Amino acid sequence: MLTEALARFPRLELIPTATPLEHLPRLSRHLGRDIWIKRDDLTSLALGGNKARKLEYLGADALAKNAEVLVTAGAIQSNHVRQTAALAARLGLGCLALLENPLGTAEGNYLSNGNRLLLDLFSCEIDAVANLDNADELLQTAAERLRSAGRKPYVVPIGGSNALGALGYVRAGLELAEQMYSNGENFDAVLLASGSAGTHSGLALALEYTRPASRVIGVTVSRPDAAQRPKVQGLLQRTAELLGVDVPTQLQIELWDQYFGPRYGEPNAGTLAAIRLLAEQEGLLLDPVYTGKAFAGLLDGIARGAFPGRGPLLFLHTGGAPALFAYHPWAI
Ligand SMILES: Cc1ncc(COP(=O)(O)O)c(C=O)c1O
Repeated sequence: MLTEALARFPRLELIPTATPLEHLPRLSRHLGRDIWIKRDDLTSLALGGNKARKLEYLGADALAKNAEVLVTAGAIQSNHVRQTAALAARLGLGCLALLENPLGTAEGNYLSNGNRLLLDLFSCEIDAVANLDNADELLQTAAERLRSAGRKPYVVPIGGSNALGALGYVRAGLELAEQMYSNGENFDAVLLASGSAGTHSGLALALEYTRPASRVIGVTVSRPDAAQRPKVQGLLQRTAELLGVDVPTQLQIELWDQYFGPRYGEPNAGTLAAIRLLAEQEGLLLDPVYTGKAFAGLLDGIARGAFPGRGPLLFLHTGGAPALFAYHPWAI
């Protein structure tokens, strides 16, 4: 049913997004629990990550509307902005990014290395802004400015997280359900980083339709449960409406909000320990802002008995490793 509903929406096929599902044997032995990973860090757009999946739909919409410039916003080290700028280059479009410095840091690598370095390679135009508290308004103002200069902008919201972008994660959820079926794996839980909420909303909707026995747990990276829940709920609703399907009444939004401190973009001791553990055990790279925090949640969840069954657990790796270079040497 979701597959047919999704098929009505055009998508860019020039960036293949299907990703492997892998077992982590050494980490599983180390933890005494079977752990798998869905490698969305390997989507094929500018060093990978979850935004490629949202941009498949948003990019197709931009082309259908004859856009000339993609306009978006994020932190200086935003992975979303990096992949949006890369897509713009790939499509022969311009890109304008409104960038904030959420940590107020003057650290050289944060300001110019990692994701930020790549924006220059993609010839992305940068507008530094004091903050993105009113991001939608700022984006509309920037788009208006481009229109008055005779250019055709297409606004990509923060994180690519509107209903159209979230379709990318409905599709990812269906892809994952298919892989679970062919591998014969039933995950007790799927853990992921929950930020602008498109990844969480899309995946939760698809898995509720296809694999309702798997819990979907969003580890928040920027907000407490009370602020994140309405974002996930609202986007779930709008995504289902766009598809013309219902949000199943039994769908439960699970959020773990105890791992994002001290604040968005600042790693804590658990984040760094998680990054080191996965690197040492499996040679895989997490990031200090999103996946390091989400993976710390998975490790702590196992330690505190938050997964009562004995079945395997899945971590959705949403990318972000380019930011590692921006956090050295002051944090990593
Ligand atoms: C590496 C990485 N993981 C997870 C997320 C969170 O995804 P979402 O914004 O869809 O909640 C982001 C968002 O920027 C990200 O860059």
